[in-house]
Amino acid sequence: MDQLVIRGGRPLRGKISISGAKNAALPLMAASLLTEETLTLDNIPALDDMTTMSDLLTSLGAAVEEVEGSNRGRTLKLTARPPLSTVAPYEIVNRIRASVLVLGPLLARTGQATVSMPGGDAIGIRPIDQHLKGLEAMGAKIELKGGNVIASAPGGLKGATIRFPFVSVGATENLLMAATLAKGTTIMENAAREPEVTDLAQCLVAMGASIHGIGTECLVIQGVDALHGANHTVMPDRIEAGTYAVAAAITGGELVLDGANVEHLGSVFESLAKAGVNISNGLGKVRVSHPTGRCRGFDVITHPFPGFPTDMQAQFMALMAVADGASLITETIFENRFMHAPELARMGADITVHGSSAMVRGNPRLRGAPVMATDLRASVCLVLAGMAAEGETVVNGVYHLDRGYEKLEEKLRAVGADISRTQDDRAIVP
Ligand code: EPZ
Repeated sequence: MDQLVIRGGRPLRGKISISGAKNAALPLMAASLLTEETLTLDNIPALDDMTTMSDLLTSLGAAVEEVEGSNRGRTLKLTARPPLSTVAPYEIVNRIRASVLVLGPLLARTGQATVSMPGGDAIGIRPIDQHLKGLEAMGAKIELKGGNVIASAPGGLKGATIRFPFVSVGATENLLMAATLAKGTTIMENAAREPEVTDLAQCLVAMGASIHGIGTECLVIQGVDALHGANHTVMPDRIEAGTYAVAAAITGGELVLDGANVEHLGSVFESLAKAGVNISNGLGKVRVSHPTGRCRGFDVITHPFPGFPTDMQAQFMALMAVADGASLITETIFENRFMHAPELARMGADITVHGSSAMVRGNPRLRGAPVMATDLRASVCLVLAGMAAEGETVVNGVYHLDRGYEKLEEKLRAVGADISRTQDDRAIVP
């Protein structure tokens, strides 16, 4: 089992290039199922989740080819020529929940789709009822059998009006893709406005889809008979950028985040600035710094975009764990997303969890300790805390990190972090 070994107390200084966004690349890859022509995606991050999605698409009969591309990220050519399998195999689907994103496009393209129910994970039960209700509203017949969702629409999907009771990124993406080939018009109200949804919508328009209201909570999709191929560059990863902004602040250093899109980070940077972090931006680069690593305590509540993102909650908690003062962090999106709190407490953090809120009282002297990562963002939270702590921190469960952060230790080492990956208890000397 890989571990990361971190020795704290070193301010980070330098430039970090921001990779393509995992949570944009996954639905974009699934969108390749909507056409028999080739979809070329640039700036794909080299992450385990991309490999799993490639494996899934290949198992359905699509061709996924990596080609020489631009100097940012990987370039994939995806071609889903008929005949396509309509069964997404359990042994692949259970590796990433985002596999459910093939359900909508596969059903819209072939009239049939069998996808294993994605299990929950550490942060919550994560049901897909809104995905299924939306597809039923579009005329699909949905059967749950043997742990699979069996969806059929032999005569094709039809446009419908879908009003989401709450914001769901995945349901918005699944139904948006399905609606592009439905007969008639689909109106989606209370749709997610996350930049990853906008990135997907813009790619679908490039593929010939008719979508209005992109970036708003009301999407109107006029179904078309077929989509064609396109070229699309994956947006930069706003959560990776926010994570490294916290890394600069918590270590009392200064980082330039190269390639970050500041329009995606409004609420994150607003909260960091109110906590005392210095942020300046220009020409696609964002400079983030803090003189001491001890910010002011500041309260945040997670909300759907453009609110403070739930995927930055754990990282912010690490920053507040060493802040000057107290902070109240409230998680409104997932029911169990404070698993990093007890691990931070092992390092001396003073955190009290009350239901969906956590009171964090800053302690400037965290101490390194062996800790266990429970999910993707919790793992990077522990790396951040380890860089601010005295002594050595060993983060176990590093496979979580490899799902969502491209070359994390290389990027951090290049700006001064003392971090190495061990296998079989030996540190690999960089
Ligand atoms: C996406 O997950 C992201 N994953 C998550 O990022 C992110 O935290 C989440 O959106 C919220 O922004 C990807 O894009 C691959 P939701 P998703 O549907 O689509 C409930 C990370 O760390 N819900 O917006 O699964 C759900 O349980 C990951 O990169 C239903 O009840 O999230 C949750 O409480 C973690 N029924 C809330 O809604 C449904 O049918 C929001 O979920 C769908 C969702």
